[in-house]
Amino acid sequence: MPTALPLVVDRTSPDPLHVQVSAGVRRLVSGGTLPVDARLPSSRALAADLAVSRAVVEQAYDQLLAEGWLVARHGAGTFVASVAAATSPPAPPAPAPGPTAASSLVRLDTGTPWIDPRHRAGWRRAWREVSAAAPPRGYDDPRGLPELRAALAERLTRQRGVACHADEVVVTAGTTDGLRHLLAVLPPGPVGVEDPGYRAAVATVRHAHREVVDLPAASPPDDLTGLAAAYVTPAHQHPLGRVMSAPERVALLRAAQAAGAVVVEDDYDSEFRWDVAPVPALAALDRSRVAYLGTASKSVAPSLRLGWLVAPPALHEALCRDRETRHDAVSWPVQRALLVLLRDGYVDKVVRSARRAYAERAPRVAAVLAAHAEPAGPSAGMYSTWLLDGDRALAAHRAAREAGFDVPLLADYARSSGLTGLVVGFGGVSDAELDRALVALDRGLRGSAGRSAHRR
Ligand SMILES: Cc1ncc(COP(=O)(O)O)c(C=O)c1O
Repeated sequence: MPTALPLVVDRTSPDPLHVQVSAGVRRLVSGGTLPVDARLPSSRALAADLAVSRAVVEQAYDQLLAEGWLVARHGAGTFVASVAAATSPPAPPAPAPGPTAASSLVRLDTGTPWIDPRHRAGWRRAWREVSAAAPPRGYDDPRGLPELRAALAERLTRQRGVACHADEVVVTAGTTDGLRHLLAVLPPGPVGVEDPGYRAAVATVRHAHREVVDLPAASPPDDLTGLAAAYVTPAHQHPLGRVMSAPERVALLRAAQAAGAVVVEDDYDSEFRWDVAPVPALAALDRSRVAYLGTASKSVAPSLRLGWLVAPPALHEALCRDRETRHDAVSWPVQRALLVLLRDGYVDKVVRSARRAYAERAPRVAAVLAAHAEPAGPSAGMYSTWLLDGDRALAAHRAAREAGFDVPLLADYARSSGLTGLVVGFGGVSDAELDRALVALDRGLRGSAGRSAHRR
């Protein structure tokens, strides 16, 4: 009987999950851990072991079948090929973690924003100003620089309707850092996360040794019984794109109240709506139940690692104490730089020009994808998501890879929902790259039209 394989996947890695799985199995075969003729677990079983979708394992197996490491025997399963042993050189040492072939692909992901190069002078000015200032001599306030917190509180109140004071804002190293801090002070219990949903949030909750409960993203939950918290993206559901309606918001808050649960609102890209005015934050309706998470990853750069958190008042003190005990503060120059970038209007300019770029790019994506797939939600922000048969999504994904592009599969964000399709990010690429990727996707989709066997 096939046994579980000693594999793990890292959901925080930039490498797609199927690349991690194929690299892991290849290592087990080439290193002799899996001998010739050993039968591999079924894609369903391995997917369950690794908590990934079945399409991820199927794609990894397909790659290794194509490379000749594995053979498929009709009706019997997938086995280690004898040719693998006969032709492979002596087992290589396990490769050190680092860039793989996947990193040479241009990624059309949901997270990389468009930063207009014309704003570079503003960026350089901010850092010059920071370099001229003297750093504080001791440990800073664990909540973050008071002036930055004041600037963030003012913006949150004005732009997102989250009425808060500087003392209630905590500067974090980004969304998942904020979530990690919240998890440390929430009462014990499972955490609901949208399905499909943000993979880094799922990984962060599991890392905190909490169970993840799937909350169907297509219809926001109105019962949170038994949960310590629910993690949601109300302004722009990640990755389906839908906006949580007013009645759904009220029902969610009522459910949180009844269950004594906290709603964690990830407000990652609300300022990038270019079709309608940004929808107010959920936290604007109930500060006592909602923990608000914001990020500079879209409006400045993901590499800055900066975000902010406004916790429900009942958790705020414990959260600040926890950060202080652990000396867990964000680097002072980084905070100073964000303060200057906000003060000088850099962030507003980046957001405005990115909105224009996304408004122009989204219809180009739709012009190609709409002929083959259903939009999963309204087009907003820097990506759009398309529902289609798993096989066809995989065909398009592969055609894009052959052309040098990594276009995420919706299946990689899905857990029990089993949704399939493509998630097309259009922020982090040039216009020419986007056009080439769309041509490849179109080719893959046309080539697979008519073949629509469901694999999931
Ligand atoms: C749903 C969602 N939330 C938050 C973020 C940003 O996370 P961080 O602030 O940790 O960079 C992203 C980035 O891609 C995202 O997709």
